[in-house]
Amino acid sequence: MGEMNQNQITVAQHVAIIMDGNGRWAQQKLMPRTYGHKKGVEATRKAIGFYAKAGVRHLTLFAFSSENWNRPQVEVSTLMSLFITSLKKNTAELHANGIRIRFIGDRSAFSKSLVRQIEQSEALTAANRVMTLNVAANYGGQWDILQAVKKLAARVEQQEITSTEITAEHLAAELTLADSPDPDLFIRTGGEKRISNFLLWQIAYAELFFTDVLWPDFSAEVMQQSLDTFASRQRRFGKTAEQLELKS
Ligand code: IPE
Ligand code: IPE
Ligand code: MG
Repeated sequence: MGEMNQNQITVAQHVAIIMDGNGRWAQQKLMPRTYGHKKGVEATRKAIGFYAKAGVRHLTLFAFSSENWNRPQVEVSTLMSLFITSLKKNTAELHANGIRIRFIGDRSAFSKSLVRQIEQSEALTAANRVMTLNVAANYGGQWDILQAVKKLAARVEQQEITSTEITAEHLAAELTLADSPDPDLFIRTGGEKRISNFLLWQIAYAELFFTDVLWPDFSAEVMQQSLDTFASRQRRFGKTAEQLELKS
């Protein structure tokens, strides 16, 4: 098996990214934080193309957390209008590349025009199968678990299931990413080493990759480094290294 490309058999199936560092990137250039978000959209476009081409089947991007509403109002409104304009601008390209886009998170707080644009982009690309792009917007990992628990509780009330019958699979099936495999590679740019209420349940066994590179500077070189790092990790899922080596 010497000639087998290690990357082909160990490419991550689901990559989840906290796209962090736009504000600092702009501030370093003595520019307003919103300038960093505009540049961040371009980095996002490149990352989507890169990971799709690399064979990643699911990409989940943290674009706006449920806590980000607490930012200055101009920054929040700039981010909201950037969602609309970048969807308008880039949905056709996503579609042409066979990418399905979906939004996860509570969209009830968004403007009607943003919700309409999200629905249009989702509908146009719904049948695409090259890669699924999940955009987490007004998303929080705790919110996701909570809404899943509420759905399960309703099923118990309806006597469809008893509380003792509930398994981890039942809960996972009610989460927003129920139909995707769990992320196997979790990336955070911008130097912080925390999860910031992104996917919580789903990253139980994800490999973590942190880089100091700020999101607008996230280059193909660093993207490739994330995949190479993933390929070099031994995923043990609780077993011993010896148990895993016996199998190969
Ligand atoms: C990430 O960049 C984008 C969003 C949270 C919307 P930041 O805006 O958090 O950038 P920093 O962390 O302040 O540099
Ligand atoms: C996480 O980044 C959210 C997004 C990238 C959308 P933050 O910049 O909001 O996280 P904290 O506040 O540093 O934890
Ligand atoms: Mg940040």
